[in-house]
Amino acid sequence: MKKTIGIVGQKQDGHVQSLLQACRQKGLQAYVFDFTNFPKYNLLTVSSSSGGSSVAGPAISFDDITELAGIPVKDCDLLLVRNLGSSIGLATDTAEAVRHSTQAGCGALALEHSFIRLMQKHIPVINNLTAARFHSAKAWLFFLLHSQGIRVPGTLVTNDPARARAFVKELAGRVIAKPNASGAEVVMADEAFFGRNKEILLHRPFIFQQYVSGRSFRAYTLGGLIISAGEIHFDRSYVDWRERVQRVDPCLVEPAVADQLTKAVRTLGLAYCGVDFEYDQYTNQSYLLDFNPSALFTGWSQLVNLNMAEKIVEYALWVLEHKTYWYDEIVQ
Ligand SMILES: Nc1ncnc2c1ncn2[C@@H]1O[C@H](COP(=O)(O)OP(=O)(O)O)[C@@H](O)[C@H]1O
Ligand SMILES: [Mg+2]
Repeated sequence: MKKTIGIVGQKQDGHVQSLLQACRQKGLQAYVFDFTNFPKYNLLTVSSSSGGSSVAGPAISFDDITELAGIPVKDCDLLLVRNLGSSIGLATDTAEAVRHSTQAGCGALALEHSFIRLMQKHIPVINNLTAARFHSAKAWLFFLLHSQGIRVPGTLVTNDPARARAFVKELAGRVIAKPNASGAEVVMADEAFFGRNKEILLHRPFIFQQYVSGRSFRAYTLGGLIISAGEIHFDRSYVDWRERVQRVDPCLVEPAVADQLTKAVRTLGLAYCGVDFEYDQYTNQSYLLDFNPSALFTGWSQLVNLNMAEKIVEYALWVLEHKTYWYDEIVQ
């Protein structure tokens, strides 16, 4: 029977479009669960009663304004989560409007989480919510990986300026500061940083981390296997290379680093992941820096000339066939 893939993401997103195209090329049925403006154009019902049938378990129905026949949730064999969507706090006109839209957004996001968790109980989900959560809980991620013997930069999370300064001193000033929840510019933790963030630091803990710099790489993994890797060239007058990529040279990952990568994504449970790692000239070691559960891939596809969407869909089919997420459980 024709397999059905559900994709959670924005219909307009090029990544979702390319996943849909790859599904169709493989003869699969595919539907998008788009929560961007939820519940404006959708109706989602989760019910403990299955409408008189004796089948146990909740009944879920999801309608979308553009899918006239509705989305047959129970036919989905696997869910690909491109990203969670909701327009939290988009209103900016009045304080009341901001409060209302934030509350509505939080409610919508909470229901989207419940929807995915319910699906997780029945079908494979790539990536599941527990694994995806790591990206915005970096303190948890770094300490977990460190405890597994995986080489990540030395890390201190605190809102105590004295402890942060002591850590900077211990590492002879080679320390960056980044937010615990991702998504902001990463900068050197120098005196200018402490001056600028004197007040903020008291209210918001930062991650202070050993500054590693030399050569920057990214690898994409599916089921713990590296499917593509490349060295990123960017303007090194900045610490943060996001948005500043000049060129990517495809490369092979050194076996010792590849082992660490596999161990790390398995520890985190990330079936699909974009892993950033850095070869540090100062210590002559490679460090795993960031694990992106919804790593962008269409730009990368072009840069390295590889159809990533097709790889992801092929992997989804492999998961369905083998009933595991991890290649090394099957391939020896
Ligand atoms: N320990 C570090 N040493 C040097 N550069 C870093 C370090 N941590 C992060 N960066 C730089 O900052 C960027 C963003 O940090 P990252 O940890 O990937 O956060 P995010 O989750 O916001 O992407 C990285 O791509 C890298 O360029
Ligand atoms: Mg990153």
